[in-house]
Order: sequence, then C-alpha cells, then structure tokens
Amino acid sequence: MSSSDKLRFFHAWLKAPLRVASITPSGTGLSALITCEIGPATGPILELGPGTGVFTRALLARGVAERDISMIELGGEFVPLLRRRFPAARILRTDAREIGRDDLLHGTLFGAVISGLPLISMKPEAVIDIVGGSFSRLKPDGAFYQFTYGPVCPIRNSILKRLHLRAEWIGHTFRNFPPASVYRIARETIRAQQALPPQPA
Ligand SMILES: C[S@@+](CC[C@H](N)C(=O)[O-])C[C@H]1O[C@@H](n2cnc3c(N)ncnc32)[C@H](O)[C@@H]1O
Repeated sequence: MSSSDKLRFFHAWLKAPLRVASITPSGTGLSALITCEIGPATGPILELGPGTGVFTRALLARGVAERDISMIELGGEFVPLLRRRFPAARILRTDAREIGRDDLLHGTLFGAVISGLPLISMKPEAVIDIVGGSFSRLKPDGAFYQFTYGPVCPIRNSILKRLHLRAEWIGHTFRNFPPASVYRIARETIRAQQALPPQPA
C-alpha cells in the first residue's frame, strides 16, 4: 500500500471520520481474509465502501475479472481514484442504502458482497436497507462478507433474525491495524439445508 494512499485515506478520515471510520486502509492480512472464499467461479462481486481499493486488488489477485466487480462508494475523494485504477469495473458514487433501488445495478445477481462499510456505527434502519438490499441482489447461495474490529458480528442479532440471515465468524487477523475479524452472512435456509443429514433416496 503506497504512502500516498495512506495520506489520502487519513485526509478523508479527517474530513468525514464517521463515514471513513479508519485512519488507514485495511492491510494485506484483512484483504486476504475477507476475500478468501471468493474466486472466478463465485460470479459477479459487489463491493461496498471500497475506499482506495485494497479489497478490490485482493479480489483481482484471486482471479476475479475486473469487469465482474461492481462497487458502491459514497466518498468523492475515492471515486476518481477507483475509476483510474479499475477502469473495467462498474463504480457507482452513491450511498449504499440505495442498493435496493431497481435501476441501480441493472438486474445483476451477485455471487458475493464484500463490505468495507462501518456498519457498527450506522443506524439500524440504514443497516437493514444495506444488508436487506444486498440480499435482494445476491444469488440464493450468495454471501455477504463483513469485517469488524470488535469482538462480535457488527450486524445485531435482531436484524439478522428479521432478515432471516445467519452470521458465521470465518477468521481473525493480526495483519491489520487494528486487528480484525471477518463474518460471513448467509440466508438461514442455506445453512439449514447444509445442516440436514443426507436423505434416503
Ligand atoms: C473503513 S473504510 C474501508 C475502506 C476499504 N474497504 C478498506 O478496507 O481499506 C469505509 C469506506 O466506506 C465508505 N462508506 C461509508 N459509508 C458509506 C455509505 N453509506 N455508502 C457507500 N460507501 C460508504 C467510506 O467512504 C470508506 O471508503
């Protein structure tokens, strides 16, 4: 990660600390962890809050084609940089709360959503719009990946229950400042089906 990216990120944080929510971009350990279940076969990927694009680079390193990546970023300080860096990706400058809007993503069904958003500091209504809207864009077995610096999933249980979702911790990394965990959020039905014992023919 270049020092100009770190500086850009720090300036963005000074201007909008609640939105940017970190003084520095995520590190390589977290970028690797949050993308570890994704590959070219996952299908189109939607990234929320890409910032300077550290998770995007990790997706490309895992073989995802740039044209298969869509991003939603609210920060005007990051969008021109992302457009220069990832010219084949679809980059939308808007609030991730708009994700459920019919005209926004032109009917693409995604295999996974990677979220860099500070969900923990958002109002419950915003989290419901973002997470519920994401699942309206995800394939039936698609997953939503979220990181957190805290000890529990940043999407509270009442919201998961209301949206019929389940969260599973997939790992922790110290190769990030601060150390972070990643959760996979999936539809309850997918987990229930996986948990069923094999049925007699
Ligand atoms: C903690 S930073 C993560 C950036 C990058 N993914 C990383 O890990 O380095 C949060 C990012 O989410 C963006 N963001 C915050 N709220 C947003 C919203 N409502 N809609 C879209 N992007 C948002 C910020 O501008 C910032 O780029």
